[in-house]
Amino acid sequence: MSPATPELPVPSVDTVLVVDFGAQYAQLIARRVREARVYSEIVPSTMPVSEMLAKNPKAIILSGGPSSVYEEGAPRLDRALFEAGVPVFGMCYGFQLMAITLGGTVDNTGAREYGRTPLHVSRAGSTLFEGTPTEQSVWMSHGDACSAAPAGFTVTASTAVVPVAAFEDDERRLYGVQYHPEVLHSTHGQQILEHFLYRGAGLAPTWTTHNVVDEQVALIKEQVGDKRAICGLSGGVDSAVAAALVARAVGDQLTCVYVDHGLMRKGETEQVEKDFVAATGVKLKVVDAEERFLTALKGVSDPEEKRKIIGREFIRVFEQAQAEIIADEGPAVEFLVQGTLYPDVVESGGGTGTANIKSHHNVGGLPEDLEFQLVEPLRKLFKDEVRMVGQELGLPEEIVQRQPFPGPGLGIRIVGEVTKERLDLLREADAIAREELTAAGLDREIWQCPVVLLADVRSVGVQGDGRTYGHPVVLRPVSSEDAMTADWSRLPYEVLAKISTRITNEVREVNRVVLDVTSKPPGTIEWE
Ligand code: XMP
Repeated sequence: MSPATPELPVPSVDTVLVVDFGAQYAQLIARRVREARVYSEIVPSTMPVSEMLAKNPKAIILSGGPSSVYEEGAPRLDRALFEAGVPVFGMCYGFQLMAITLGGTVDNTGAREYGRTPLHVSRAGSTLFEGTPTEQSVWMSHGDACSAAPAGFTVTASTAVVPVAAFEDDERRLYGVQYHPEVLHSTHGQQILEHFLYRGAGLAPTWTTHNVVDEQVALIKEQVGDKRAICGLSGGVDSAVAAALVARAVGDQLTCVYVDHGLMRKGETEQVEKDFVAATGVKLKVVDAEERFLTALKGVSDPEEKRKIIGREFIRVFEQAQAEIIADEGPAVEFLVQGTLYPDVVESGGGTGTANIKSHHNVGGLPEDLEFQLVEPLRKLFKDEVRMVGQELGLPEEIVQRQPFPGPGLGIRIVGEVTKERLDLLREADAIAREELTAAGLDREIWQCPVVLLADVRSVGVQGDGRTYGHPVVLRPVSSEDAMTADWSRLPYEVLAKISTRITNEVREVNRVVLDVTSKPPGTIEWE
């Protein structure tokens, strides 16, 4: 048995805690704080105040939430939080809690405000509002309203229905706004958040991805020591950046495994094999498993069945590769590198987790009781920060900026049976779409653009002088912040026309290109 994973030390950087009162506001706030180059972490509102303070935060932000302060069982806050001398900024629900906890008045007036709302700033030179217009637009979402600020506070803004829409107490360094400064609809929201951080809490914008690399390299060195580690590369940005960080820290004590299941997009396997290895110097084991996957998928059209087969084969191939590496390198292989991101950690309710993966269903001859300890150098990062770290590490742009791509690959973008010929068709069509979207400068606007081959559908067409009876492909460009919800991207007609013309001209068997104009919900991003 391997020893337990050591607790990772608390980061030495100045930290802002974001207290999460629910409804996903906290993640956005934490990201905005980091955009201001101050490190932030999310904690649940159920955490005792003493525990929050033990983290030595330099400031605390109270998020919004779905509750009314008058609801039975609505989250409360210990007054001690405001008496510890730590600067606090309450937003929306956090603002109202702050008001009632410190002796102000919040009324359940029934006067709701929702959406874009005009805000009037009455103290233009205040800590939060200095340099912003006296009339600005903010995003509101509340039923209750603060009618009297607690003693010691100055009211700094109001709206047509809320007399106290913001208050500040510079002496105790306590601040609050009724609205959501973290959403882009609040026109000066980021500026106000930065004013709290820099002016209210006296923090400096010093947190950068450069520091992240240094910090993580040191932590990985300490964790892995002179042992060995394995990392599975999927071709995606997360595993690539995680592997690159570990390679930077421990060099060839790391072996990466890349399973080529034959379901990748055009050029992706070569990018991993050549460009990624060139950029990182990593030791890479490539397993060519195309035949095996195609054989297992033969005759299968049902999406769930495809997913299960691909998942099962993947684990088998990966474990076989692990077993071979262990046979080569000996029992010092104790670590498995994973590209877990901060949103996964927050959503699974974890703090500084130390989970072990047990290789239960191995078929590759691993010892029964073998356990890997996890190395997760991206546990504290959001996706956009992972890309920045990747850039910092000098990874190829194509990998760092890559769109999310599902594990089962093109296997779930062919509606119908998956065959080599169909995969080749789809790879060509997909490559054209990607090329034209990049050429049109649209990569940053689009979250991802699956191209789907309707292999079980044929339609009549005419090309040259002849009748054709080919397959349609679907373009599914979407805009999203996190893939939980998405909207279809309004791409310029010229770009769509170019993609359509090129695909129907250049890809044999495809004689029609259609556009998916469904948001999520109700449609998922992938078709299968
Ligand atoms: P859906 O289709 O559920 O997809 O709207 C949401 C996001 O997840 C990706 N996706 C997957 N990623 N394994 C993955 O690693 C999968 O099986 C999988 N299925 C969907 C999808 O591309 C989108 O970004």
